[in-house]
Amino acid sequence: MSAERLGRIVEDAASEVFVFTADDFRFLLVNRGARENLGLSAEELAKLHPWDLKPDYNETQFRQFVQPLIDNELDKLQFETVHERKDGSVYNVDVSLQLITSGDKPMFYASIRDVTEQRKVLRDLEAATAQLDAILNNTTMAVFMMDEHQHCSFMNRAAEEMTGFTFEETRGRPLHDVIHHHHPDGTPFPIEDCPIDRAFPEDYQSQGEEVFIHKDGHFYNVGFTASPMKDALGKTIGTVIEARNIDDELEARKALNAFNEELRHRVDKAMAEREALEMQLVQAQKMEAIGQLTGGIAHDFNNLLQVIGGNLQLLHADPAIAGKNAERVGHAISGVERGAKLATQLLAFGRQQPLSPEPVNAGRIIRGMDDMFRRTLGELVEIETVVAAGLWNCLVDPRHLENVLLNLVINARDAMGGEGTLTVEAGNASLDDEYIQSNPDAQAGQYVVIAVTDDGCGIPESDLAKVFEPFFTTKETGKGTGLGLSMVFGFVKQSGGHIAIYSEVGEGTTVRIYLPRTRAEEPVGRRESETFVTKGNNEVVLVVEDDKEVRATVLEMLSTLGYQAVEAENADAALAIVNCGIAIDLLFTDVVMPGELKSTELARMAQKRLPNLAVLFTSGYTQNAIVHAGRLDDGVELISKPYTAERLSQKIRSVLAKAGASPAGEPAPEKSADERQEEAGTQRAKRILVVEDEVFIRMSLTELLEGFGHEIVEAGSLKGARQHFAESEFDMVITDLSLPDGNAGEFIRELTGASGDLAIVIATGGVLPDDIAAHGLPVLRKPFSDDEVREIVGRVA
Ligand SMILES: Nc1ncnc2c1ncn2[C@@H]1O[C@H](COP(=O)(O)OP(=O)(O)OP(=O)(O)O)[C@@H](O)[C@H]1O
Ligand SMILES: [Mg+2]
Repeated sequence: MSAERLGRIVEDAASEVFVFTADDFRFLLVNRGARENLGLSAEELAKLHPWDLKPDYNETQFRQFVQPLIDNELDKLQFETVHERKDGSVYNVDVSLQLITSGDKPMFYASIRDVTEQRKVLRDLEAATAQLDAILNNTTMAVFMMDEHQHCSFMNRAAEEMTGFTFEETRGRPLHDVIHHHHPDGTPFPIEDCPIDRAFPEDYQSQGEEVFIHKDGHFYNVGFTASPMKDALGKTIGTVIEARNIDDELEARKALNAFNEELRHRVDKAMAEREALEMQLVQAQKMEAIGQLTGGIAHDFNNLLQVIGGNLQLLHADPAIAGKNAERVGHAISGVERGAKLATQLLAFGRQQPLSPEPVNAGRIIRGMDDMFRRTLGELVEIETVVAAGLWNCLVDPRHLENVLLNLVINARDAMGGEGTLTVEAGNASLDDEYIQSNPDAQAGQYVVIAVTDDGCGIPESDLAKVFEPFFTTKETGKGTGLGLSMVFGFVKQSGGHIAIYSEVGEGTTVRIYLPRTRAEEPVGRRESETFVTKGNNEVVLVVEDDKEVRATVLEMLSTLGYQAVEAENADAALAIVNCGIAIDLLFTDVVMPGELKSTELARMAQKRLPNLAVLFTSGYTQNAIVHAGRLDDGVELISKPYTAERLSQKIRSVLAKAGASPAGEPAPEKSADERQEEAGTQRAKRILVVEDEVFIRMSLTELLEGFGHEIVEAGSLKGARQHFAESEFDMVITDLSLPDGNAGEFIRELTGASGDLAIVIATGGVLPDDIAAHGLPVLRKPFSDDEVREIVGRVA
């Protein structure tokens, strides 16, 4: 190879080449790579020495450093140092220096690699390793590494702390054999089953929870991830395992699970309660809706009955109707009566029946009905009556309460098939907020609770919600109307109470009615009747009764009870007896009798004459003339037919007691002319405005009133009525409540304000709204009989 060619190769070599003399250290050759890197030209370099390029060496140091080569002690010097460029920057170099001899002249040959980049990589690597160490040793996660033989090749500080072993103790050992060889129950744990150790041979990442054994022998729970480690070529070379002690976490998880379980339980319970409540609410709303519906139907039904009944009564009074036809009219009238009874029951369910609540001792009512219960239930049913000591009084209509109890007892009888035990209990009860929460239709407060329990067939769950609905019956056709419990329900609700039913099929049924407590005492007569013997003291009783047979029976009853009885067959005759000055203690009169003079008129006149006279009315009707606005008139005493001698005597005692102790028959003060005219029973003809949109009711009422000798003007609307009032004067107005052009409330207010002399009567088949009831006006309840019309017109005029 020629020298020139050799020179070219050196000049173009990738590494930097320096050749300098061994005696005076002058550069003979610096190849292009070196020149370019240093930024120096060959001319510049020719004036420099090697130590001029090496900031780490001065001349002396460099000469000493290379001396072993000159002395032939070394073949080659391999060292690292720094070269400085012309611009002052430096770079790391790896120098290989040899002494070569060309001819007889020794010279140095230096081959130099720029290792700046390499140095940097190394430094970075060291920094990364330090960082990694810092991370691994400061993390709380235990980190293990296993080599391809599943032997431990690394453990960080956290791993040492967790296992109790130092890395030195586990290095090179199968980790499984050190920390994972047994199950907590003492059975061996073969490495083949270990999910951590399978990660390597099966080359997948596994995660899970395991139980490790501490160096001191105790077991602890760990959560782990075992991942295969790959080299740069993707070959699996071992496993890295991260693990942490999860004892506390498991404890917390257990607590959390328990908490969640409890929470779910509570939520389920709350949901169930809510659902039950919603069901109850829906049921209550349904009953409310049916109540309004039936009340409305009863109201309209009463209107219809009025049309039919009114016309039938006119027919009945018509002398032209006789024989078979009269009989037919009679049948039709009794049909209307049956219809009216049904309407009464529906009104009861619709909470619109007229009630006269008064303080009542339920225990007394129950004991008083004992006989009736026995007769109703038959001999094979045992009756137990339990009345709590200190029973409060409740505020209800006692007559209706008796009816309610009888209904419940009849249901019990039917359920027991005539044989079993009936228990009737009365006690005090306070319904608290908790009870109200689960029974939203009840109101918190103090109640008297009456429970009627039988051990009969019970009621299937599916029927329980329906038993209070009108017309729900499981009894065969003709045996039950399905209105019994509906009436009970309506009564209890209307009385401000609450009803609950509990039943189990085959075991029996309990119906509890909660009636609102009152702190008031029972009326005197009632309390007395409980304790006192109810015989008379020869008091004089004037019996006014048109039915001859009834009269005879009453007379006999009274004389056995210890009274002296005087009889009259109508009001006029009775008034004559009163006026003739006999000392009379009690006037006992039928409400509705033929004749001009009304029983209420009679009572008023008789009491004027005899101020201490006690008055007791009797009637076969439930809706009679002396019931108005849902209540009995204040101070009016009534005994309903049929009555027993015992009840009659109790009633008479109480009425007499109330009338006071002053001697009967005291002469009355001088009478005015007006009073005398009244006594004569003459009724002046009146001018009456009838306001009613139902044309048939209006017609028959008009015909009836005209028959009584009054002058009638008709109006079918409020507008018409107002017009008539503007045009002329009236003594009386009889008005329906709801009219096509509005409600009569406003009209009635106008009338009551306008003239004090005007008599106002409300004719309705429904219940009075509160604002109208507040006027205390007399009410003609549809369907009304002609007697009732006559009576009310006579009374209010
Ligand atoms: N004590 C009870 N034991 C079992 N079932 C009862 C009891 N009370 C009521 N029932 C059921 O409730 C239904 C409705 O009772 P409800 O008193 O309203 O009507 P009824 O007795 O069938 O007819 P009504 O009372 O009008 O003559 C009954 O048909 C019966 O199925
Ligand atoms: Mg019944």
